[in-house]
Amino acid sequence: MEEITKIEDVAMQELEKIEDKENLNNFYQKYLGKTGKISELMKNIKDVVAEKRKEFGMAVNSIKQKIQDKIAKKEEEFEKLKIKKQIDSMKLVDMTVPSSKKLKGSLHPITIIQNKIVDIFLSMGFTVEDGNEIETEYNNFEAVNVPKNHPARDMQDTFYLDNGQVLKTHTSAAQNRIMKKYGAPLKAIFPGRCFRNEELDASHENTFFQIEGMMIDKNVSIANLIYFMKEMLTNVFGKEINVRLRPGFFPFVEPGFELDISCPYCNGEGCRVCKHGGWIELCPCGMIHPNVLRMGGINPDEYQGFAFGLGFSRLAMMNYDITEIRLLNSGNISALSQAKIK
Ligand code: FA5
Repeated sequence: MEEITKIEDVAMQELEKIEDKENLNNFYQKYLGKTGKISELMKNIKDVVAEKRKEFGMAVNSIKQKIQDKIAKKEEEFEKLKIKKQIDSMKLVDMTVPSSKKLKGSLHPITIIQNKIVDIFLSMGFTVEDGNEIETEYNNFEAVNVPKNHPARDMQDTFYLDNGQVLKTHTSAAQNRIMKKYGAPLKAIFPGRCFRNEELDASHENTFFQIEGMMIDKNVSIANLIYFMKEMLTNVFGKEINVRLRPGFFPFVEPGFELDISCPYCNGEGCRVCKHGGWIELCPCGMIHPNVLRMGGINPDEYQGFAFGLGFSRLAMMNYDITEIRLLNSGNISALSQAKIK
């Protein structure tokens, strides 16, 4: 018992002096490790006379407990000290000093353009919906008529997750969910962030924004599609915009189109922005394929609809004279603040 008390005294004195984690670990091994002093004491219990064994065992357990508690306290102290050191070493910022850059806060160009488009469609009676960023393969592909192994999957270089789900490659991934939620008739838009494993350049990002629109009702035609797109674009650009449709292939629409707009900068006369063609390719769209309606629980013999998928990262670039798409996700305030936010 004397030896136990002696070990306890020495251990506590040693612990007091420890000032870093490494020495604390060494101390732990010395006393509580497999061959540590306390463990050795415990092994000696067999040599203690029977009537003293209980007392001996309790005494050893008691100092073991005390040492463990003290080690835990020390660890906590070290952790606090580490955080304090990190804080002390941080650069101090005086929030009261006026900014030399005179940067004025504003919404991000993407947010501004999204709010604008959402407002316009709300005023035309559309519901605004949200989509998931992580989607099932079914919703992203099968439900929009792109079965497994269909070559159209190659058009969108997809990020697959380990669990078999995907980062949604287009806002069309929410079409099925929304048709099932509302049924027909239906007028909805759903903006969202999309992801593709793209070769990056000035107009291609791996993370970009689209806004999807769907209108489903009896007797919906391409004329409705053109009307809503013209209305929206005229509002976004603040002047009359002409549109034209060219054939385009997407498995989820039939017929499918690429919608071009008359260049808002030169009114179609030809300039740098429209590469002197007078038209700018803006938005794929079309009449929703009967298979897609059917998978959404809507009878294609009774209802028709149009859908469009507008990439509004590029619209924001056009609207704010941003020539490099990567700037939008860069968080570079100095550069973004030069965008001509109106
Ligand atoms: C689609 O994503 C279809 N889901 C659109 C659609 C919806 C068609 C409904 C018919 C009916 P596409 O892959 O072309 O289509 O992309 C649509 C738009 O997203 C493009 O016109 C472009 O503006 C934008 N976009 C596509 N990839 C990128 C990218 N890597 N970076 C920036 N914008 C992109």
